Amino acid sequence: MVRDGAAFVEAAAAWLADAIAAVLAERARCSVALAGGNTPRAIYEHLADRYVNVPWALLDIYFGDERRVPPDDPASNYRMAYESLLSRVPIEPTHVHRMPGEREDALAAAREYESDLPESLDILFLGLGADGHTASLFPGAPELRERERRVVPSTSPVPPTGRLTITAPVIAAARRVALIAAGASKSSVAARALEGSFDPYRLPAQFALRGSWILDGEAASLLRVVPA
Ligand code: 6PG
Repeated sequence: MVRDGAAFVEAAAAWLADAIAAVLAERARCSVALAGGNTPRAIYEHLADRYVNVPWALLDIYFGDERRVPPDDPASNYRMAYESLLSRVPIEPTHVHRMPGEREDALAAAREYESDLPESLDILFLGLGADGHTASLFPGAPELRERERRVVPSTSPVPPTGRLTITAPVIAAARRVALIAAGASKSSVAARALEGSFDPYRLPAQFALRGSWILDGEAASLLRVVPA
């Protein structure tokens, strides 16, 4: 799906609201893993402002990845989600499961979060890095071959380097997946991921190819076939 500017934000927020409604039509509660980075902020704000009928009390919020920083750090994905969404909707703090990025022992933090993560997420919202990463699964990283563990520490080539991230099995098990990307810096990687050869070791975002890709015009500018 390709939309520009405000329509991109609306389309992504609508995808989330519709996915939540579809899950709750079948199940009593809905688990949603949020994307980090900058692109989601406007989408989360729009969701909080416009989609007032989302039954937040029936949601359990998780994260696809986190930077290994305290939750009040400007680089924290939790902080971004808290400021743009979670502090602005009626959700119980006990239903918000943030990744403990500040924990000294990253392996223990990953294990702890893994035990808290549902077997299959109902909704997984992902971003796209200009290098083809998604969550904190970076090109060529050993974590990409992980098939047992569902949450692992990882290392980002750009600061903050320390990360915690879900792994490919979690992406594969998620019931509904969307990936968002905006801006010209994502155009080449979006075209390679969607229209190039399948090699998630080089383009980890391809683990989410079965999902809905929501792009703005710039990010979609190099696509031969523009998805509807
Ligand atoms: C993170 C993210 C990461 C992000 C991409 C895109 O913690 O950095 O989860 O996967 O989605 O890097 O980031 P932008 O939206 O800032 O371009």
